[in-house]
This record gives sequence, structure tokens and C-alpha cells, in this order.
Amino acid sequence: MPAVHGDGLDDPRLIGEWFAVAWSREVEPGRLLARRLMGRDVVLWRSPQAIHCWRDLCIHRGAQLSLGRLRGDRLVCPYHAWEYNSGGQCVHIPSQPGQPPPAKARAQTYHARERYGIVWVCLGEPLSDLPAFAYGDDPAFRLILAGPYSFRAKGPRVIENLFDVAHLGFVHAGLLGDPQHGEIEDYEVGMGTHGPEAREIRIWQPDPDGTGKGALVTYHYWACGPLTAGLVKVHGEQRFGILAQVAPVDANTCESRLVIAMNYGHDVPEADLVRFQDAVTAQDKVVVESQRPELLPLDLQSELHLRSDRMAIAYRKWLREIGFSYGTA
Ligand code: FES
Ligand SMILES: [Fe+2]
Repeated sequence: MPAVHGDGLDDPRLIGEWFAVAWSREVEPGRLLARRLMGRDVVLWRSPQAIHCWRDLCIHRGAQLSLGRLRGDRLVCPYHAWEYNSGGQCVHIPSQPGQPPPAKARAQTYHARERYGIVWVCLGEPLSDLPAFAYGDDPAFRLILAGPYSFRAKGPRVIENLFDVAHLGFVHAGLLGDPQHGEIEDYEVGMGTHGPEAREIRIWQPDPDGTGKGALVTYHYWACGPLTAGLVKVHGEQRFGILAQVAPVDANTCESRLVIAMNYGHDVPEADLVRFQDAVTAQDKVVVESQRPELLPLDLQSELHLRSDRMAIAYRKWLREIGFSYGTA
């Protein structure tokens, strides 16, 4: 894909990542769905065999394919009705029906897959398999999709916010923490399969399970990729997990999509759970969008770091190690 210099979107480590660009349920059969990923317009659609993500551009005169229509398993351009098969090859040109379309008449296709109700797209050659979320495959867990949440920020600040334990009692006072219990006990950070992880972080929460009683809960965090992360909150036998994916829409905005997995509260209406997550994210959004510089400083001499920031420090060190340049300085 052509590089767009200066905005970090040409980072090869970014181009090889999987991004959540839509919910599976949004890509209904017969529908063309326009999305934007890393400054690139794409169109999503479903054929009987597979899900597709193409560049949203017809090779003939550059019309947006998402304005066209589907005819069986062919995508028809809105302008001169060239027909593309599900492999992206143009197979019919109505103005010259007697001639086979030139081999170069192709749509630009990208890798697209589905997992956990998410449509995942990679604009380059994937550097890894799709992120795995053990609870997402466990029938004891109920899955809830939340978002997309739009941030006028770059992805690494959004992911670091997810790894930040010390803000819970303040930004989310009354929901996920309590300012009177703001102290964070020491915790350990190590390297997991795909990136840094932090285990056994104990946090006081005012109402961890909806019974109205405060309790200590334990958090675990891990990076599944530079812009994909997981967390699990443990309270007795209860597990509340989140797989969070942050996709850059363009140089200045990104969107997060969350898969929430719970092994309890199966009778709580989904709308209530989504509303809670919407409220939590709205609180984070205000702070994250205010952060300057927008680029996450990977030089640990910049900004101040405390013991309680250990996971954020590990995340910055790791981004530096893997040479992740998008959204960092
Ligand atoms: S621009 Fe698509 S068929 Fe002409
Ligand atoms: Fe938060």
C-alpha cells in the first residue's frame, strides 16, 4: 500500500496488524458497508463463502464501490456497472460485453476474517494470527460487544489508558474505583506470549458485581498486539474480561471496539451492560483526548513514572523494542 509519510500510518508494524473495523452483524448479506481504516477508504461485504474487504475504489474511474450494489456474488460499480467477482477480478464490462475485461481490471483486496463477532482486517501481510481471547471461545461466558468509541487521539494513548490502574479511583470514581482507596499496591509485570502483561493488581471497587457491596478485586492486563489488549477482573468465581481493539481511522482519530466476556450476570440486559461501558469510556475519552503530546513518548526520560505505572512503562518499552512508530515519539 502506498506510504502516507509523516502521519505514522505507513508504519510497517501497523500495516501488518489486524484491526476491528465492524461488527459481523453489520455486514448483512446484500449490503455494502463503507469504512475508513488508517486513512484508507474500504468497503466490506459478504458473499456466500466469505467476508470481503476491498479498497473502496473502482479501478476504471475511481468511483466508490460502496455506492454500488451486489448482484449475486458480484459487486457492481455504481458508475459504469463493471462487475467484480468475489476474488476482486472484473468479469463483466457492460459497455463492451463481447470482450473479456483486462486482467488488470481488479479491485484491491485486503485480508478479512471474522472472530468474536468482529470483522478483522489487515491492509498488508499479517504479521500474526488473529488475536485470541480464551473467554471468547468458552461457552460459560456471555459475549457483549461495545463501541465503537471514537477518540480524537492516537492509538497508543488509548491502549495505555486501558493499562492504567491508578486512574480508576478518580476518572471512574463510584463506577470502577473510589478516591479514598486510590493507593495501588506493588504488582509484577512480565512478558506474555504477545507482549507485556501485569498480574494480580488489587483494586477496591465500590460495586464490582452489582450487589451494591464494595470489595477488593484483582485485575490482569496483557497486550495482544501494539493496539490490541486484554484485561480480566477477578472477584471470587466471577470473571469479567475485555478484549479491546483500537483501529486508527486516520492520522488523528481512532476507534475502539470491545468484546466483553462475563461468566455471571447472564440475566442482566445487554443494553444495561453496554450503557455502563459507554459511561466508563466517555469518562476516559475526555482525559485521553486532552493528553499532550498526542504521541506517546517512548523515551522513559519523558513524563514521570511511578511504581504504579509499571504496566504502562512495560508497554512503552515494548513498543520501542518492536519499533512501533505510529502514535509514538
Ligand atoms: S468507475 Fe467503476 S465502472 Fe467506471
Ligand atoms: Fe478508564
